[in-house]
Amino acid sequence: MSPVLGIDDAQENMMYTEFQDRLAVITGASSGIGLALCAALLPRGVKVLAMSRTVGELPTLQQIYGDRLQWCAGDVTCQDDLRSLAERASALGPVDYLVPNAGIAEMANSLDMPAFQRQWAVNGAGALNTLAALRGTLASPASVVFIGSFLTGSSFPGLAACIASKAALTAQARTLAVEFARFDVRINLVSPGPTATSMWNHLGLNEEELGDVANTLGKRLLPGHFLDASAVANVIVFQLSQGARGVYGQDWKVDNGYTLG
Ligand SMILES: NC(=O)c1ccc[n+]([C@@H]2O[C@H](COP(=O)([O-])OP(=O)(O)OC[C@H]3O[C@@H](n4cnc5c(N)ncnc54)[C@H](OP(=O)(O)O)[C@@H]3O)[C@@H](O)[C@H]2O)c1
Repeated sequence: MSPVLGIDDAQENMMYTEFQDRLAVITGASSGIGLALCAALLPRGVKVLAMSRTVGELPTLQQIYGDRLQWCAGDVTCQDDLRSLAERASALGPVDYLVPNAGIAEMANSLDMPAFQRQWAVNGAGALNTLAALRGTLASPASVVFIGSFLTGSSFPGLAACIASKAALTAQARTLAVEFARFDVRINLVSPGPTATSMWNHLGLNEEELGDVANTLGKRLLPGHFLDASAVANVIVFQLSQGARGVYGQDWKVDNGYTLG
C-alpha cells in the first residue's frame, strides 16, 4: 500500500491494465499539454493517433514507442484533414479516448471579430468538428475530454475572444454529454490554468509584456508558479479512465488555485 496515496498495488495495476491496447486520438499533440498527454498514455500501453500541423516534439516519443504512436499531419480547421484523421482512426480500431486539445490564444481588442473567428475556428468549431468527424469511430464505452480554460468564468483584458471561444465550447459540452450518454460515451472538460507551454509565446506580446502578464497571473496561483503540462495531462488521464466513470458533463479546473480568487 502506498503510504501517501493510499492506493494499493492491485488498484494501481488495474488503472494501468485498463489502458492497454486502447486507442486514443489527441489533437494539438505536437507540444505542451497534448504532448504531455501522449507521454502519459503511451507508457500505460495506449496506442496514440496524434494530430497537429507540425510534428513538433513527437519524434522523441516515436523513438521510444515506435508505431504505437502515429502522427497524422493536419489542421483542425480543415474538414478534409479531419476526414483523413477519422479514416486513420477507423483503420486502427474503435477510438476509446478522444481529446480535441488543439488550441490557440491571441491577444486582441475585445471587439476584433476576425480575431474571434480565428480563435473560435480552432478552439470551438475545431474541437466540435473533431468530435463530429470521429463520432462514428468511437468505441462503447468511450471517453471524450474537451479542453476548456481557467478564464471561462472571468475576465482578462485582451483575451475576450479566446475566453468566449472556450466558454461556448464549455456550454456545448454540457448538452453533448447528455446526448452522447446513450451511446456509452462520456463527455467532460478539463480546464487548465496558466500552464507553461509555447501557447504563451504565440500571444503576440513582447518579452516585457509577457513578463507583466505572467506576474499578474502568478499572484493568484497558490504555489506561486505556472502549472507544468504533465499536471494537466494527469487529470485528463484520470478523466479518460474508468475511475471517472460516474462523471458526465463536468468541467474540471486544474489551475493551481487561480479561480479561488
Ligand atoms: N497553456 C495554458 O496556460 C492554457 C490555459 C488554458 C487553456 N489551454 C488550452 O490547452 C490546450 C493545449 O494548449 P497548450 O497550452 O499545450 O499550447 P501549445 O503548446 O501551443 O499547444 C497547442 C497545440 O495545438 C496545435 N494546434 C494549434 N492550432 C492547430 C490547428 N489549427 N490544427 C491542429 N493543431 C493545432 C499545436 O500544434 P501545431 O502548431 O503543430 O499545429 C500544438 O500542438 C489548448 O486547447 C489551449 O487553449 C492552455
